[in-house]
Amino acid sequence: MASQRKFFVGGNWKMNGNKQSIDEIVKFLKAGPLSENTEVVVSPPSLYLEYVQQSLGGSVGVAAQNCYKVPKGAFTGEISPAMIKDVGCQWVILGHSERRNVFEESDELIGQKVAHALSEGLKVIACIGEKLEEREAGKTEEVIFKQMLAIVPNVKDWSQVVIAYEPVWAIGTGKTASPEQAQEVHQSLRAWIAKNVAPDVAAAVRILYGGSVNGGNCKDLGSKPDIDGFLVGGASLKPEFVQIVNARS
Ligand code: 13P
Repeated sequence: MASQRKFFVGGNWKMNGNKQSIDEIVKFLKAGPLSENTEVVVSPPSLYLEYVQQSLGGSVGVAAQNCYKVPKGAFTGEISPAMIKDVGCQWVILGHSERRNVFEESDELIGQKVAHALSEGLKVIACIGEKLEEREAGKTEEVIFKQMLAIVPNVKDWSQVVIAYEPVWAIGTGKTASPEQAQEVHQSLRAWIAKNVAPDVAAAVRILYGGSVNGGNCKDLGSKPDIDGFLVGGASLKPEFVQIVNARS
């Protein structure tokens, strides 16, 4: 049976870009054409959220790359879901491996952020993934299921969440998981969700793959039954992002 899950492609720009390069990205996004069968969301640095939201004019969703766990207050340097919504954006990425590993965000903090973002009406791209030494030690499932356990109790409405499986060893390295490697993890993750959340949630939730996705490998990855889209880093800054959006078309 063909999946009912709408293909989803996110572009995580990370800490890249300026108004000039953003204008160029907006231009190729508007020119597209972007498949109507794909939900597209781009994630600029927080400083540019409103600029990108206004430039795109609603044709593509916009996500913050992070947020804090309370609405406002004395938290220098942080932004809240309320602020992200106030500038017209609908999404936030939480638990990205760079937040976990460079900024030492814990599973617990990520869970609290997920709960607060959802309670404020933002949709969440929740990221999980193992490091190379964890994969080599045969601990991939143990690691990602533990990360999932910190997220699951904080979600009431799974229609507001997509999961991004991003093996840390594949991020920014040019070393993509093979379609078979990614499919294997996605399938076991979906089975875990069926058992630990609910079968209907497992059937409906979109599980994205992230890690060195590009115009050349997106079709093979996107043909796997449990890969429902991508979270793209480097290639989301380039015109080939359009090809990735259209990987299933
Ligand atoms: P790359 O596509 O640059 O490997 O980054 C993946 C990623 O971290 C997306 O969130």
